[in-house]
Amino acid sequence: MNTGSIDLAVIGGTGVYAFPGLEQARRIDASTRWGAPSSVIVLGRVGDRRVAFLARHGEGHTLAPHRINYRANIDALHALGARRVVGINAVGGIRADMGPRVLVLPDQLIDYTSGRASSFCDADGEPVLHVEFGEPYSALLRRDLLAAARRSGIAMVDGGCYAVTQGPRLETCAEIRRLRRDGCDLVGMTGMPEAALARERGMDYASLAVVANWAAGCGPEPDAPVSLDAIKAHLAAATVQVPVIVRELLAR
Ligand code: HPA
Repeated sequence: MNTGSIDLAVIGGTGVYAFPGLEQARRIDASTRWGAPSSVIVLGRVGDRRVAFLARHGEGHTLAPHRINYRANIDALHALGARRVVGINAVGGIRADMGPRVLVLPDQLIDYTSGRASSFCDADGEPVLHVEFGEPYSALLRRDLLAAARRSGIAMVDGGCYAVTQGPRLETCAEIRRLRRDGCDLVGMTGMPEAALARERGMDYASLAVVANWAAGCGPEPDAPVSLDAIKAHLAAATVQVPVIVRELLAR
């Protein structure tokens, strides 16, 4: 069901379960050969631009990162006509300038996940693809997001390596030390296989990472345990900026 061109798809992560103020919104119960996406897809307008929104963990946050049907999510958006996708990802900060509430536009990732259905190339009729993935995020979409944030007066760190872990537990301090040695700046659980699947479907994809907490053993109080209440508060404060950036992105 291609409903015509969609200017942008937004996949909301932890703390982002809706896109506020979508006009003429309608809810679409999509289905794909891979199963059902995480949630209904809300199709609506921002001015004259068409936007699709999907809650990655489900609208009531019922899906853990390893239980998300990433293939159904990407394929459903693709089938609806989306060719540009911004994935919002809550992450832990490893690098000193990536503390709670900072927004980051990663430019690299390392995939530490295992056992996730991570390719479309394992069903009859699907072409065997070895997609180019040296630069996992769309340079054009990253450029446009950075410019939109700048025009909105919202600070966003340009670049960083996103470590995608299996979860759902958080990491040990030793695991984070290893990720740092590997060159990772951020750690989260949902960046993959989403980015690779979008590439397989030929979509422009970028991750907008919202730092929810210092990763284990990082930050000014490295011995402090990661507090879930603090994570919620940081995400609530930081994610309000996401629709502002997206609206500005769509304004040009
Ligand atoms: N680790 C992994 N995933 C996360 C974290 C973290 O510290 N914070 C938010 N998502």
